[in-house]
Amino acid sequence: MYSEKVMDHFQNPRNVGEIENASGVGTVGNAKCGDIMRIFLDIDEAGIIRDVKFKTFGCGAAVATSSMATELVKGKSVQEAMLVTNKAVMEALDGLPPVKVHCSLLAEEAIHAALWDYAQKNHIEIEGLKQPKSDIHEGEEEEEY
Ligand code: FES
Repeated sequence: MYSEKVMDHFQNPRNVGEIENASGVGTVGNAKCGDIMRIFLDIDEAGIIRDVKFKTFGCGAAVATSSMATELVKGKSVQEAMLVTNKAVMEALDGLPPVKVHCSLLAEEAIHAALWDYAQKNHIEIEGLKQPKSDIHEGEEEEEY
């Protein structure tokens, strides 16, 4: 049911953890299942994503897609990171079962929320980036979910 790549990223997730003093942090929740994803970005002055980490309270597909998404955005510019959609992540993983497609949205949304946080802190605009709907701020988890 799952591709080998999905199983590999689920069993050996890349980039799990946190970044202290991250340039941008994004936390989103999935309304369907209540799972939560947090992404930390370390972005240099040139706008290149030097490091990225994620933490999740989510299912195996969310772990695998986030692991792959972090691999895909690492070393990219913030503008290139906007191209890492859930579709691109699923393709890189050789697909996901249809019932698990919504899980891959968590990674994309959390990256966008972290980019939004970075843009806000630096007073810049990232083309095509909209304010995330479901960004959860520190300490608000209980009220919202
Ligand atoms: Fe919640 Fe997959 S079931 S993210």
